[in-house]
Amino acid sequence: MSRLVVVSNRVAPIKDGKAVAGGLAVGVYEALRDSGGIWFGWNGEISASPELASETHGRITYATLGLTRRDYDHYYRGFSNATLWPIFHYRIDLARYRRDEYEGYRSVNRKLAEQLKPLLRKDDVIWVHDYHLIPFADECRRLGIRNRIGFFLHIPFPAPEILTAIPPHNDLFRTLCAYDLIGFQTEVDRQAFSDYITREVRGVPGPDGYLTAYGHRFRAEVYPIGVVPDEIQATAASYKGRRNLIGRTAAGEPCPTIISVDRLDYSKGLLERFCAYEELLQRYPEHHRNVQFVQIAPTSRSDVKTYQHIRQQLETQAGHINGRYAELDWMPLHYLNRSHERRVLMGLFRGAGIGLVTPLRDGMNLVAKEYVAAQDPENPGVLVLSRFAGAARELNTALIVNPYDTVGMAEALDRALRMPLAERKDRYASMMLSIRHNDLGRWRDRFLADLHAAGAGRQPTDKIAV
Ligand code: G6P
Repeated sequence: MSRLVVVSNRVAPIKDGKAVAGGLAVGVYEALRDSGGIWFGWNGEISASPELASETHGRITYATLGLTRRDYDHYYRGFSNATLWPIFHYRIDLARYRRDEYEGYRSVNRKLAEQLKPLLRKDDVIWVHDYHLIPFADECRRLGIRNRIGFFLHIPFPAPEILTAIPPHNDLFRTLCAYDLIGFQTEVDRQAFSDYITREVRGVPGPDGYLTAYGHRFRAEVYPIGVVPDEIQATAASYKGRRNLIGRTAAGEPCPTIISVDRLDYSKGLLERFCAYEELLQRYPEHHRNVQFVQIAPTSRSDVKTYQHIRQQLETQAGHINGRYAELDWMPLHYLNRSHERRVLMGLFRGAGIGLVTPLRDGMNLVAKEYVAAQDPENPGVLVLSRFAGAARELNTALIVNPYDTVGMAEALDRALRMPLAERKDRYASMMLSIRHNDLGRWRDRFLADLHAAGAGRQPTDKIAV
């Protein structure tokens, strides 16, 4: 059987008792844990002379290296997170472009491919993840690497009109076409990619998801990332710590909790969510002292300017809500920037009557799936979910909201707080069906099966479509 080599910007060994940094790390780690293999990429450190180091834990060998300050600034902080991230999340207003950063991005991809080459065996299957590494396969091909190489985009793929705001979009997406298989979270993302390829570069769509462009024939498909529901359920059920965090209602009962867990990122709709919670308290005074909102938002990319700005705005808004509504024995909003261990989060999800997941744009959002999987089947909570999360395609019996509609979100929260047990159970059962169907194993197995098949048929075409 061929060995799996995973390449992602951030390589995150998830050791027991350690906090987790976002959907990609959870998904990739759990996918690799069963099959074993190599996980190659950045170790998260800045180093004057980066050297490849490798260590093996269980079935995974972590092969990692640091980035120089200049590479970090250009590739990670610059083009990846100040250009691609905002544009892929439909925020052209927050994006900037610098040519030297794009050059840095291309050169880090080249250096990473060079570092990986000596580790490869002939039959290895290479699975590359996310927007930092769009040109990676192209660099591998230049080095003569002929292995099957697939790419999975964890974040949304925007409409072509948005994408073309990236000045070197043509060069960038030419390199993407060097992959054998390109995977997206939802059909909307795949369709947007196909539109770009057919309209902007006159690529040619073929049967079975195949496309021909820039002299390459490759496949583009949809693979919604999932979770491991039984494991989450067991972790959540066995959590012995305090579930209800804090607080008692006026009648002395544990206070119903609304919980949200996100990286502190402007795409997550945190400010809009805080406003909706304030609207709930203003419109429905009967919930005063009878509800609490716990927002866990570990800081992220805090050396990128736009992230500093959103953090300040949230601090102001959190202070405003508590200043306006808190009483000596009731704190309506708990805003925590600290990260928490995964088992604690799963325990908290189970204890929270409402999971509030309202990104302005999100590739999938695994928190939505984790919240549902962590529930007690006999007394499940309610998921309030943004229509702009990829997860809304599958979890359509959640209470679906538009995060730009403050009053609509407040009404949904009120409805969730009052929802009878029978309705909660029905909605939960239907969401669990789809979470079980599209679990993490299926995501990995479908992608890898298609990569084997796509790679087997791979041959340079003589039809140059540009
Ligand atoms: C999202 C991205 C990942 C990224 C993660 C954490 O989930 O899709 O690629 O690793 O956020 O962000 P960071 O910049 O800290 O790696």
